[in-house]
Amino acid sequence: MNYNKKTVTDIDVKGKKVLLRCDFNVPMAKDGSGKITDDKRIRAALPTIQYLLDQGAAVIACSHMGKPKGEWKPELSLAPVAARLAELLGKEVIMAKDIVGEDAQAKAAALQGGQILLLENLRYDKGETKNNPDFAKALADLAGADGVYVSDAFGTVHRAHASTAGVAAYLPAVSGYLIQKELEIIGGALAAPKRPLVAILGGSKVSSKIGVINNLLEIADTVIIGGGMAYTFSAAKGGKIGDSLLEADWMDYANEMVEKAAAKGVKLLLPVDTVCADAFSPDANTQVVESGMIPDGWQGLDIGPKTVELYCAAVADAGTVIWNGPMGVFEFDKFAVGTKAVAEALSKTEAITIIGGGDSAAAVQQLGYADKMTHISTGGGASLEFMEGKELPGVAALLDK
Ligand code: 3PG
Repeated sequence: MNYNKKTVTDIDVKGKKVLLRCDFNVPMAKDGSGKITDDKRIRAALPTIQYLLDQGAAVIACSHMGKPKGEWKPELSLAPVAARLAELLGKEVIMAKDIVGEDAQAKAAALQGGQILLLENLRYDKGETKNNPDFAKALADLAGADGVYVSDAFGTVHRAHASTAGVAAYLPAVSGYLIQKELEIIGGALAAPKRPLVAILGGSKVSSKIGVINNLLEIADTVIIGGGMAYTFSAAKGGKIGDSLLEADWMDYANEMVEKAAAKGVKLLLPVDTVCADAFSPDANTQVVESGMIPDGWQGLDIGPKTVELYCAAVADAGTVIWNGPMGVFEFDKFAVGTKAVAEALSKTEAITIIGGGDSAAAVQQLGYADKMTHISTGGGASLEFMEGKELPGVAALLDK
């Protein structure tokens, strides 16, 4: 896939209306108060928004929030995002009452250079996720005949939706700074990494990481497996895993991956010991056992101390480290030790460190190492599909350089 895409600085936006796709799908407090619990994605969009406003563009920002599936769910309104964005920008953010309806059309038509309008949740219209051409055209029309489309929604580039891909049929399409940075850093690490390239893959399920394990075995020098999925690898080798998480249907695949690594000369590191518990609970009794020796009634919830040592040593002399997925149940303090140790090792290495979005980004943040990493992706599913080597529709739609 070609990642060399035109960006916002390759196109004239002065005095033009710019339809700007952001990923403002931010976590909200569950109590219905409309409180945003993490505004990282809004902050990540600021450089592009500020650039466009400084250029005198009239910015029509849009985003989805949650999965309302065409229903007008008030708790998924983008109004709280408009308020937070206004605070961060220090200027008014005009909120449209609809997406491409009368209110949005009137407000977009009246929008002046240097002003910003935010449309309502794109997924209130079914046409968004269906990539309906009429809906895409209606979005594009808000920017007018000489309008420009800028995509800065990295978290959504794996979706072929009206606002992420369809709209590019009607407006010249370029990336903003956020997508540019994600493409440069993650794309660079996949295409021409500073070696050795070490990939650390964790998380609970092999089934959700098959693509990424397979692709990284083609590229990396070392692939490290941790988290719940390591127990499927262990069981596939004939190990005893007690009550640990097992995806029996993926045991053959796990063995295939071990064979593939050997055939390619890639070092595949699996846990040598594990912290197991007598219950899935923060207060469970624990013991450390060798991998493949978990007693009945016990379940592995974290990598053990010898594994920690092994994995941290692999990271220490890496040129690039890509990390996707925690090493254990880091939400419980007792089982956060492995994830924490890996995060700490990453914070100390000279290597380029790239953290895939989602759980790994949350872990690094929660454990206090976020500012020590080279790059924490703003995309969960998007960064995973990127690392799987899949084509990203929201990137493919942009103009090549
Ligand atoms: C995300 O949160 O990963 C993005 O905003 C994409 O959301 P989606 O999985 O609902 O498409």
